[in-house]
Amino acid sequence: MESKAPEGKLGVLIPGLGAVSTTFIAGVDAIINGHSAPIGSLTQMGTIRLGKRTENRSPKIKDFAPLADLQDLVFGAWDIFEDNGYQAAAKAQVLTPPDLERARKTLESVKPMKAVFNQDYVKKLDGPHKKVADNKMQLAEMLMDDIKSFKATNNTAREVMIWCASTEIYIEPSDVHSSLTKFEAGLLANDAEIAPSMIYAYASLKSGVPFMMGAPNLTVDIPAIQELAKQTGMPIGGKDFKTGQTLMKTILAPGLKSRMLGVEGWFSTNILGNRDGEVLDDPMSFKSKEVSKKGALDYILQPDTYPDLYKDLYHKVRINYYPPRGDAKEGWDNIDIFGWMGYKMQIKVDFLCRDSILAAPIVLDLVLFADLAHRHNMKGIQEWLSFYFKAPMVAEELYPEHDIFIQLTKLKNTLRWMMGEELITHLGQEYYDSYE
Ligand SMILES: NC(=O)c1ccc[n+]([C@@H]2O[C@H](COP(=O)([O-])OP(=O)(O)OC[C@H]3O[C@@H](n4cnc5c(N)ncnc54)[C@H](O)[C@@H]3O)[C@@H](O)[C@H]2O)c1
Repeated sequence: MESKAPEGKLGVLIPGLGAVSTTFIAGVDAIINGHSAPIGSLTQMGTIRLGKRTENRSPKIKDFAPLADLQDLVFGAWDIFEDNGYQAAAKAQVLTPPDLERARKTLESVKPMKAVFNQDYVKKLDGPHKKVADNKMQLAEMLMDDIKSFKATNNTAREVMIWCASTEIYIEPSDVHSSLTKFEAGLLANDAEIAPSMIYAYASLKSGVPFMMGAPNLTVDIPAIQELAKQTGMPIGGKDFKTGQTLMKTILAPGLKSRMLGVEGWFSTNILGNRDGEVLDDPMSFKSKEVSKKGALDYILQPDTYPDLYKDLYHKVRINYYPPRGDAKEGWDNIDIFGWMGYKMQIKVDFLCRDSILAAPIVLDLVLFADLAHRHNMKGIQEWLSFYFKAPMVAEELYPEHDIFIQLTKLKNTLRWMMGEELITHLGQEYYDSYE
């Protein structure tokens, strides 16, 4: 099947004009204007091997798959604060003043639309720039109107929505989430179990716009939204951008397991002082993050398959709000491992990372790949994008794949499959046939 070519402009619609989204927009501007290379972006810098190793065919992914050009991206956002992208970026304090000034025009042009917000879902935050309506269905319709006017004003050919707004409190799926009919009735009845992020996702899919979930919110993990994605033919993806500590975990854990080294304990703690950190200081928002962060190790290490190595693994994750650090998070990991004859060893990781710098290229790649999937008529859960998420979505009967190397192989094979190229198994036996 051929993907439709990416003609015209691609609208990037972002709930949440905060640290991640403004860093993403400023970075795209810097790349277009030649001030920076697209570091951290697989779509822009990564290559993909095609055919046999002897063929020397390894184009850049962006030259292989028909991805939208960065020049064609146009940005729109919603936020509970009226600050434009420049003001929001200045407050987020991720970028240096010269980088901020260089991207000023582009950032200033992003003026947030009024948000759909409910403080019950983000306890530590409130702001004045919000939509008011009698029920949640009306709020969804207002968002759909926003999307329509964004399309008309910017003359976009296609759009992708990507959630870069705050983490909502932890909720479990309930009856109102169980089918689209019940969900729509719930929107009309103002059901308290419908989170703001679900209203955005609903409006997005109804408008023919793929939806990606960057926070650990339940949003797309419910049957109602998955049903809508299938019905409207829209790709969905989630959840929670895989940056920082979880990225390190999914790099290290597969390596330890591949050598059959045991892990007795993995203690992870973070300090961070940005607004995200403040929101996560609320125990209910932290619970969403904790659940999305904790799954990775269990799935990678498979304690049921390797009880001698991982059955007693004690895994603890902490996040502490510490304002002096701003966006420059510090994540510590203490890993207690054991080897031959049970002898104990320790690994210490101290990752002085920058959250938004790690998240921005993920936003870019997800936008471009979600748009590609849409043009390729791929609807519903996009498991091949697991590479980018802390808690990847999968079909109900499957367990999620967290191993970053398997995720990358899956992603590249999906691209090869889309483009009609042979899949790569890494068997390589054919190179040695001449020995026989
Ligand atoms: N930076 C990372 O490494 C990383 C990794 C994974 C996930 N995330 C998630 O990405 C999201 C954004 O992170 P950030 O550092 O930019 O946070 P941030 O606090 O700087 O920005 C979030 C913005 O969303 C706005 N907002 C909150 N609720 C909203 C709503 N309902 N509608 C519209 N706007 C709303 C806030 O006012 C704020 O401006 C968070 O949920 C975070 O957990 C970030």
